[in-house]
Amino acid sequence: MKIIHFFTITIMSLTTTINAQQKLNPEIEKKIDALMSKMTLEEKVGQMNQYNGFWDVTGPAPVGGTAEQKYENIKKGLVGSMLTVRGVAEVKAVQKIAVEQTRLGIPLIIGFDVIHGYKTLSPIPLAEAASWDMKAIEKSAETAASEAAASGINWTFGPMMDISKDARWGRVMEGAGEDPYLGGKVAAARVRGFQGDNTFKSPLRIAATAKHFAAYGFVESALEYNAAEISTNTLYNQVLPPFKSAVDAGLRSVMTSFNTVNGIPASGDQYLLRDVLKNKWGFSGFVISDWASIREMIPWGFSKDENAAAKSAVEAGTDMDMEGGIYFPYLIDLVKQGKVKQEYLDDAVRRILRVKYELGLFDDPYRFLNEKREKEVVGSKANREAVLDIAKKSIVLLKNEKSLLPLKKSGQKIAVLGSLAESKNSPLGSWRIAADNNTAVSVLEGLQQYKGNSLNYVKGLELTKVEPTFLTEVEYNTTDRSGFEAAKKAAREADVVVMVLGEHGFSSGEARSRTNIDLPGLQQEFLEEIYNVNSNIVLVLNNGRPLTIPWAAEHIPAILEAWHLGTETGNAVAQVLYGDYNPSGKLPMSFPRNVGQIPISYNHYSTGRFTNKDNNVFWSHYSDVDKTPLYPFGFGLSYTTFEYSNLRINKKSFTKGEKIIVSVDLKNTGKVKGKEVAQLYLHDEFSSVIKPVKELKGFELVELKPGESKSINFTLSDYEMGFYNSQYEFVIEPGTFKVMVGGSSDTILSQNIELF
Ligand code: NOJ
Repeated sequence: MKIIHFFTITIMSLTTTINAQQKLNPEIEKKIDALMSKMTLEEKVGQMNQYNGFWDVTGPAPVGGTAEQKYENIKKGLVGSMLTVRGVAEVKAVQKIAVEQTRLGIPLIIGFDVIHGYKTLSPIPLAEAASWDMKAIEKSAETAASEAAASGINWTFGPMMDISKDARWGRVMEGAGEDPYLGGKVAAARVRGFQGDNTFKSPLRIAATAKHFAAYGFVESALEYNAAEISTNTLYNQVLPPFKSAVDAGLRSVMTSFNTVNGIPASGDQYLLRDVLKNKWGFSGFVISDWASIREMIPWGFSKDENAAAKSAVEAGTDMDMEGGIYFPYLIDLVKQGKVKQEYLDDAVRRILRVKYELGLFDDPYRFLNEKREKEVVGSKANREAVLDIAKKSIVLLKNEKSLLPLKKSGQKIAVLGSLAESKNSPLGSWRIAADNNTAVSVLEGLQQYKGNSLNYVKGLELTKVEPTFLTEVEYNTTDRSGFEAAKKAAREADVVVMVLGEHGFSSGEARSRTNIDLPGLQQEFLEEIYNVNSNIVLVLNNGRPLTIPWAAEHIPAILEAWHLGTETGNAVAQVLYGDYNPSGKLPMSFPRNVGQIPISYNHYSTGRFTNKDNNVFWSHYSDVDKTPLYPFGFGLSYTTFEYSNLRINKKSFTKGEKIIVSVDLKNTGKVKGKEVAQLYLHDEFSSVIKPVKELKGFELVELKPGESKSINFTLSDYEMGFYNSQYEFVIEPGTFKVMVGGSSDTILSQNIELF
């Protein structure tokens, strides 16, 4: 295997690293030249220094000093950016100092973790990816951008686009799942949603950040902040594509990751940051470290002290230091002593100033700071409607037997069990710093709006010992069964039992890796006890990652994957349970049968002994469990049924560059209107590096009335047919390709084509 860091690092002239992909505005470049000619070395380093605000801490203890010291440094022009300052009043207070009290009046750029909304919350990003609805995802990011911008924020630390095949990793909730093609489409949709047309003419759009660059989703054993040792094949074909697609969409910032990539800490990785991102892809925005990740190169054993860390990071191409206290002050002397070339600094400062100019902060540093707009936009009715829309679309129906769903609208006795049903906090999910606690519509509140049935809520089981927070570990209740009897009584008397179980919203996200992803606490026991008295159970799952639920999958007749759906959770879940919205989501990540199968994904490689053709024990399998997932990537049911037929391809053989048109007929064979995500997968039969058994290369979201048919066309171009070889060159190799089309990665129809 070739290790990427053995590549020769070609640092092109640092000021001319931009290629055609991200065009520069000559006017802005001229203004930057003029401003930079006036800046002292200290002021330049200041632009590269970002401080945390004074309230929300999202990492270990800040090193930037007390609030007073930070204010003093802003006044001296030694700070280029703040994070987690929020709300017009607070932002104005710090911006005024930068603009009115510093020598050059350079405005701050204000960053914030707008991960799935600001105050009005959308579903967690993993859930949104389950919608496969790029328009709705873009709209959700636009909604988030509008609230953040109206609150004085200029720049979000999102979207997160780390591909991961490991549900133990808590941060899978922040991404789009296991697939690079879907991940790339979602990444671009989110960038468009945050940044609009990239002109920032609207004061309701903000700069986006692609994070975490790179391979954070492949940390060993899913242990948080760990090392990632991955092949070039995985790096190039799985990890990097979403980042590339975000850059192509005009992305303005990239955040490095906490992990190492094949031995190099990401914030000091010249190959990835300088060679790939800035030179090869022509990224013209700036790179921010993650929280103190430059400083963390010291305990990693990569940099011997602060000076060494500063030198490695700036030379690698990390332009801004988030709350690390490294660039300021250490870079100042390093440059003075000639140990770091001024060119590196200038490249970083130019990039940061560029984005500030693009955002219009020099034209009007207060353009995001309008109290009236803040009141109108944050929490508006339109925003509530937008997050309800994407919440419904994110729900995935995993199982529906005994016709339990949709629920009948009258004449039923329904028992609702589990403390998550009444929770107004957990459904908000993790990463929601600006949202107020307990502001979600609970599942119970959603169900109570349907008055035709008798509804009996009995908690039955307290999920956690105390209500968790972003900064505490979640402690599940493992001892208190005192509510079981009352719950059993309610279940016995009911026609249908709706059980809301799963993980607390703070069980996933940063620093929430788990080795056991079964239903936590006493929930499995609770589920089985209720099942013994009434098996007509609809299990509504709340979780930020795939869970291992083999018992439920076998016994429980109806299972609805409802993730953490944000502010409008209860309304979305109730509308789906009652059939007012027909579920259309498809899983963006495989659900394993047990943790031993992890990492698991549909797009794994073949092996030399993939099938059991000799009927003996020596083939690629597990002795104790089937090797397929419990629920595969792309899977999701509907209240109607769909039939695929008549797969056809416009020709049998093609040359490079020719468009390949694949068509299929899709029919709604059920009784209600519904949406289906038709998916196209490709398998390249032979190639110079091995290829996955199948790879998603197209999808279409189609709505059909009962009995209606549509012919769907997918177009395969070079982008879909090619891949990155071991030298990170994009190549299209001739040969036979198998084209597969269906409603999940367990596809049904297939046909071969030849590429010459
Ligand atoms: C650390 C996280 O890894 C990153 O995603 C986040 O944006 C920063 N902290 C800032 O809160």
